[in-house]
Amino acid sequence: FAFQDNGKKGKLIKSPQFIDLDKALKGQLTKVCEVEKFTGTRGETVSMYTSDKIVASKVVVMGLGNKDEFVLNDLRKAVGKYVSSVKKRLDSVVIVLPEDLDDVVLEDTVSVIIEGSELGAYEFAKYKEKDERSLELIILATSTQIDSKSLKKAIDHAALYAQGTILARDLVNEQAAIATPTFLANLARDIAKGSPEISCKIFDKAQAEKMGMEAFLGIARASDTPPKFIVLEYNPVKSKSKKKLAIVGKGITFDSGGINVKPGDHMQDMKMDMSGAALVLGVFSVISKIKPTFPVMGIIAATPNLISSSSIVPGDVVRAMNGKTIEVLNTDAEGRVTMADSLSYAVSKGATEIIDFATLTGACLVALGDEIAGMFSNNRDLLEAVKTAAFEEGEKVWELPLEKDYKEMNKSDVADIANIPNSRYGGTITAALFLQEFIANTPWMHFDIAGPAFANKPQALSPKGGTGFGVRTMLKYIEGVNK
Ligand code: BES
Ligand code: MN
Ligand code: ZN
Repeated sequence: FAFQDNGKKGKLIKSPQFIDLDKALKGQLTKVCEVEKFTGTRGETVSMYTSDKIVASKVVVMGLGNKDEFVLNDLRKAVGKYVSSVKKRLDSVVIVLPEDLDDVVLEDTVSVIIEGSELGAYEFAKYKEKDERSLELIILATSTQIDSKSLKKAIDHAALYAQGTILARDLVNEQAAIATPTFLANLARDIAKGSPEISCKIFDKAQAEKMGMEAFLGIARASDTPPKFIVLEYNPVKSKSKKKLAIVGKGITFDSGGINVKPGDHMQDMKMDMSGAALVLGVFSVISKIKPTFPVMGIIAATPNLISSSSIVPGDVVRAMNGKTIEVLNTDAEGRVTMADSLSYAVSKGATEIIDFATLTGACLVALGDEIAGMFSNNRDLLEAVKTAAFEEGEKVWELPLEKDYKEMNKSDVADIANIPNSRYGGTITAALFLQEFIANTPWMHFDIAGPAFANKPQALSPKGGTGFGVRTMLKYIEGVNK
């Protein structure tokens, strides 16, 4: 890795690692950099074959840009991008740890490199004739003496974050015919079986009915696929904490739009409408290793949004578990209707803090593009803590307002609230305001992940498809609370 200095034209900074390598290559590296005018700009790379001067057959130098602007996530991304570009071509690579980073401990450097490698190497190859991945070995090279225990810890930690993210990706990328509510419920059960601190409750249609979840079941009734209301609970062995966190994920296993059917193009992407649910399962799959010191619940109302003669139709009114009635004016605004019940459930179980993740609105893509999640909260401290966690994990978020005056737009003539606003504008905000009606003033945070949950083009840390967005932010947030 190489940085660029602060000067007007930005010159290459030769790190001690660069100089060592250059020496071993008899000055050829410097020469190649000069010939190719490589200055270490962000994203810029230069490479050369080594003609057997060193063990590695090829050297690649990657620019990390201006040193003053560097954040660790730049390194995570550079590694991810590199690993994804060679994963089908090379069997092994050596990554030389940058040791000239200011205010960064080597363990953190190792962590982001491992995360970057694991995420960059990811592929969903299940339905391909053969998995073309060949990369098997990544060696980290350093000249610094580093305590092997703390190094192992850093590696395991990063691998855990990647593992949770990859599970979420697999679930999002899986076809809707397989990743059904029952499939998600079985997975939740398996996760609970694997860990004594985790328990799992699955409520079927009849049980959800008894609990008064008419909103969730209203969306579910169009489909023969049985809906499942999934609850995971992590309880630490000894807990003195009064805190009880609920993570709620939108679990629409396929969103056709319902009677307000979506236009055909890109409908196939709507298998991703359970990305919030995938996040919950990804987090719970590794949560016992993170060992929260307080109870954590994961809640998913899982159903597809399909079309049949028993579909909910525009004008129907349903009553959510908390007693509020919802007029369904558009069956394609189904997520908020199902989440009315999952949020109500979280409140009824005494959650002291609720964080929800939902691929909720196309409007969020219009507002923030497809890489940034919209973020809302009624609690400053919570928001700041989660935002910091997101920044450290390199997951892009931006706060949007819970503008009270916009509540007008969600009014219904016949029910307590309507599921679509009477204006096209501000659709992400009005959706968040809708959800707010079901959290009863609990400290709460809502993420609209319609954009970043699914990559429409390859990214540094993710190929096309499910990204597992949010898993790492949540794990980091939980660890921060632990401290
Ligand atoms: N799942 C969609 C939102 C979505 C759109 C996610 C694009 C990812 C990419 C959601 O259920 C939906 O259809 N929302 C409607 C709401 C509208 C009818 C008020 C939308 O955004 O168009
Ligand atoms: Mn929809
Ligand atoms: Zn949806």
